[in-house]
Order: sequence, then C-alpha cells, then structure tokens
Amino acid sequence: MTRLAFFVLIAITASAADITTARAAAAVVAVNSPLQAPLAPSPSDPFPLWLQELTGQTRWPGETPPYIPMPNIDLSQVPNEIPRRDLGVCQGIERSHCSFDCYRCVAVDDISTCPTLSQTFDDGPSMHTPKLLMELEYKTTFFTQGINVVRYPDIFRQQHMAGHLLATHTWSHAHLPGLSNEDIVAQLQWSIWAMNATAGIVPKYFRPPYGAIDDRVRSISRQFGLVAVFWDRDSYDWRLNDDSKLVEEVVKDIVSWKQESQGGLILEHDSTVKTVNAGINVSRMLGPSQLTVAECINSNWYQNQ
Ligand SMILES: *[C@@H]1O[C@H](CO)[C@@H](O)[C@H](O)[C@H]1NC(C)=O
Ligand SMILES: *[C@@H]1O[C@H](CO)[C@@H](O)[C@H](O)[C@H]1NC(C)=O
Repeated sequence: MTRLAFFVLIAITASAADITTARAAAAVVAVNSPLQAPLAPSPSDPFPLWLQELTGQTRWPGETPPYIPMPNIDLSQVPNEIPRRDLGVCQGIERSHCSFDCYRCVAVDDISTCPTLSQTFDDGPSMHTPKLLMELEYKTTFFTQGINVVRYPDIFRQQHMAGHLLATHTWSHAHLPGLSNEDIVAQLQWSIWAMNATAGIVPKYFRPPYGAIDDRVRSISRQFGLVAVFWDRDSYDWRLNDDSKLVEEVVKDIVSWKQESQGGLILEHDSTVKTVNAGINVSRMLGPSQLTVAECINSNWYQNQ
C-alpha cells in the first residue's frame, strides 16, 4: 500500500469511527465525567434571524449544506484547470497545484508548524470535549465541524470561554478537492455561520479535512479570509480507538519529537474518550510552552476580533 493510500485509508477510518464511537460512548461519559451540566442533551440554539434573512433557510442543514451565493465570493476567480478528485486519488494532480495531501505542498500563506511543539484538536466539539476542557491547563486550538458546533452549542461556548482558539474544519468533514466550487463555498460558509451564531466569532484559521487541499480549494478559502493550517507531527491518536496504538506509544512519539526539535504542530482529535485521554497526557508533557495556532504566527485569533 502506498503511503498516500494508507494515509487516506486511516483518515476515513478515523472519521467514521469518530461519529459512531462518540455516539455510542456518550452515555458512558455522562456517568463518568465530573462535568455534568453540559453533557445533558441541550436543545440547539434557535436558528438566528439574520441567517434566515441571509440564506432563506429556517434551520441548520444536514451533512450536505446548500450553497448560498455571496457578494464577496467570486467563483469566476477560481482556477478551472485543477481537476476534481476522489479521496486519496492524486492522478492528474500536478505539483504546481500545490496539494498538501498529494505532495505535502504548503503555500506561502499556509501554516504547517509552530516555533514550540503545540497540540491541535480536530473534529469536535464532541461529548468528550468537556473532559478535555476540564484537564487542559494551557490554551490550545480546536478545528471544529460546523455541524457539531450546532449540535453541541454549549460545549462550543465553553471552549471559547476557556480561552482556546476556535477554527473551522468545514461544516461536515468534507473532502474538499472532490467538491464543486459551490459545494466548497457551502462547506466553508455554513461552518463560519455556525461559529458566528454560536459564539460571535468569525474564524481566521481553517484545517481542510484529511489535509486535502489544492490551489482551487485555496482560492475559495482565501476569499473567506481563511488561513489553511496543516501539521508536521501526526499523533495517529485515532488508532487508540481500536487499540492498534497505545497511549504509551503516543507518549513515546512526543518524547522523541521533543528531542528532535523545539517546534511542531501536532495533529490530535477531541472526538473519543481515548483520544481525549491521550490529549490530556500530551498536554501535561508539553507544559506551558505550547501555543495556539494564532500565537504560532503571532497574529490575530479571529477575523472579527
Ligand atoms: C455574524 O453575526 C452577526 C449577527 O450577530 C451578523 O450581523 C454578521 O453579518 C455575521 N458575520 C458573518 C461573517 O457571518
Ligand atoms: C497518562 O496520564 C495518567 C494520569 O496522569 C497517568 O496515570 C498515566 O501513566 C499516563 N500515561 C502515560 C502513558 O504516560
């Protein structure tokens, strides 16, 4: 199996596992977690009036959000020579298209590392995020899915109140290079609206699911004012979910990364109890030196703050 095929396979596995495991384990956590209040299923926030007027919709969308044309998003500027592709397929993709998932290509305005070794958490918020919030002593970065933000609005606001940096991981974990320009817009606009409606923040940082990006996707994400963020240290924490990796091994990786260099951006997930527990251990190992992605580049946290 090629390295890429393997990468993609695990990415799919992780994502599917996130959803089912999070749901299945929700009841267990509600009993075990010291933080009771936010774990009760909370009625979702009402769909805001300003969003009704802007979109003509009356409720949050499902997995496939509708494209809403916007005056500041000009799709005629999007390059049309880069082919759409399925997850893990790099045929027809040239180095000049600057794909991170195919060639580890990073554009000048992308972020893929940090001066100090720092954590990032993808896919939440989930029912397990509150446990992480209880234990984290230092600020970190969460790349959230819009569909989960509106599913767990109270948890999202807790993350914000705890002073963490919140960023977007699209609306529903879409493989963006496989989508039409319009559907890429929809994945980004609805995730931004979810964050704005729930906590009043307009994200500046964006992590494409599976790290899947090229210059067609970038030309749209840039129009939203988003900075693409990747990673240079993969914890493979999702392998904890089926016990194909042990916490001890995650810990061992951190130790060797610390020995290799001062810096780096670690990919983790706040989607299951096992990845959250590992995240707590890693946080203690890194101590107070770690930074949020905004601090990594000494820039602002949000587009509206
Ligand atoms: C954010 O929400 C406010 C309403 O609270 C709205 O007026 C504004 O247009 C929204 N901005 C974005 C980028 O969604
Ligand atoms: C993870 O943290 C827990 C609680 O501090 C500790 O008991 C455990 O030994 C740690 N695991 C590893 C592998 O470091």
